[in-house]
Amino acid sequence: MRTSEKILVIGSSGQIGIELVENLRNIYGIDNVIASDIKVTEQAKDGPFEVIDVLNTQNLLEIVKRHNINQVYLLAALLSATAEKNPKFAWDLNMIGLFNVLDLAKEKIISKVYWPSSIAVFGPNTPKVNTPQYTIMEPSTVYGISKQAGERWCEYYYNKYNVDVRSLRYPGLIGWKSAPGGGTTDYAVHIFHEAIKTGSYECFLSENTTLPMMYMPDAIKATIGIMQADPDKIKIRSSYNLSGLSFSPKDIAIEIKKHIPNFSISYKSDSRQFIADSWPQSIDSSMAAEHWNWKPEFDLIGMTNDMIKNLKKCTESETYM
Ligand code: SER
Repeated sequence: MRTSEKILVIGSSGQIGIELVENLRNIYGIDNVIASDIKVTEQAKDGPFEVIDVLNTQNLLEIVKRHNINQVYLLAALLSATAEKNPKFAWDLNMIGLFNVLDLAKEKIISKVYWPSSIAVFGPNTPKVNTPQYTIMEPSTVYGISKQAGERWCEYYYNKYNVDVRSLRYPGLIGWKSAPGGGTTDYAVHIFHEAIKTGSYECFLSENTTLPMMYMPDAIKATIGIMQADPDKIKIRSSYNLSGLSFSPKDIAIEIKKHIPNFSISYKSDSRQFIADSWPQSIDSSMAAEHWNWKPEFDLIGMTNDMIKNLKKCTESETYM
């Protein structure tokens, strides 16, 4: 596709970044999508790559200017479980990183920003089922607090400085191409790898902990979808609720057993249980559907089929290499 877009993905070697870069390059062309992370990774082999520390404004500005970037996807962040181990650094990375990118748009150096929020903006006092877009939000994790504050700042920059910033409240994301990095919902990826590799899994959340989740192709579709939507369709400039599916460790174990009958699961909750218990079980994303036509494709059955099919293929090719 011929395009005038020049896109920078910051934090591109993480769980979302790897798949997002691949998809953006299919749409906009390899050379129009610059991947970047805090250090050089394998991804550098696949196309333009820069080392960016999002906390270093000079470094960021220099690269944005050098590549004539007009859109930034800011994915660099500490997720819920990792952030609890280093709250101050998590706050700095998640907030200052956002300011640094929003300020590039405020100064009209770039024209569009994508920034992910999370179901972590909700807290123990939020209604848990079909959580509405507008509701009580009292997050109890540093990650959730940083995402909630970030949402407020996104809306503020839109209202005050006309910054075209777009955002989604991601649920737990599940994909086979990339590993998750320090979230409470990571079990839903690890469980597939262990089921195929060893036939058993010890889950760090209890069996009935139902959480909102989404299969990665849907998350990528939503991310690119909201960025490509006409600006007047984006009526929420804090962040949109986004729903895919909802399940518990027990539900997903039952589904995996249909493919791997001897699969067994055991449960040993750790500190992540406390985080999971503060989050919703399911999300109402009717506003995303209404405003820019959001519609997920994958349910639990479809996702499980696809995950197992692809991970088995990967395992086979590794064996024969
Ligand atoms: N998957 C994320 C986490 O568990 C939620 O945004 O931290």
